[in-house]
Amino acid sequence: MKFFIDTANLAQIKEAQELGVLDGVTTNPSLMAKEGITGKENILKHYVDICNIVDGDVSAEVISTDFDEMVKEGEELAALHEQIVVKLPMIKDGVKACKYFSDKGIRTNVTLVFSPGQALLAAKAGATYVSPFIGRLDDISTDGLNLIAEIRHIYDNYAFDTQILAASVRHTMHVIDCAKLGADVMTGGLASIEGLLKHPLTDSGLAKFLEDYKKGN
Ligand code: G3P
Repeated sequence: MKFFIDTANLAQIKEAQELGVLDGVTTNPSLMAKEGITGKENILKHYVDICNIVDGDVSAEVISTDFDEMVKEGEELAALHEQIVVKLPMIKDGVKACKYFSDKGIRTNVTLVFSPGQALLAAKAGATYVSPFIGRLDDISTDGLNLIAEIRHIYDNYAFDTQILAASVRHTMHVIDCAKLGADVMTGGLASIEGLLKHPLTDSGLAKFLEDYKKGN
């Protein structure tokens, strides 16, 4: 299972990278704005800064909704760095753009996916990654994890190569449940990754080991 961090915060990306378990980064316009990164030039530079920190794929989202504009914007993003994956919204022109990019060998991440049918379309269009937003489904009293299970089932039926990138992951149990269900990737905040470290028996066990070591030395 790949671990992506879902942020545009360079300090958090560095921290996750230093832990040695980071496989990539996902961003979106809201995450960029949260870090105060605005204006096209600043945003493009920020993508390159992120690529220079991590070794893996970095999703950069288009803000166009029209096919021709998406293609132009996506090509510009892809040319920024070899690690860039073009992130496209699950709309009609986004599906067309996904097919266009996959035919050209440019990696894609189809985002804002909330149903198995949308995930099926993304796979048919050759998406590298599909991003079902599990937290946002939970927010409206729907079972986000069930969507991961449904997509896994469908993709396995036909051996689609598209990787299921569980997105809108909010906490460590989402990560664990996505791993059980066979999501290929999860993307969440630093807390959802570092939270996996924690167990009170680890802390008390270590404290006892260190205490006993001191007794004998
Ligand atoms: O990866 C998608 C993500 O950025 C959305 O997360 O927490 O805003 O639903 P959230």
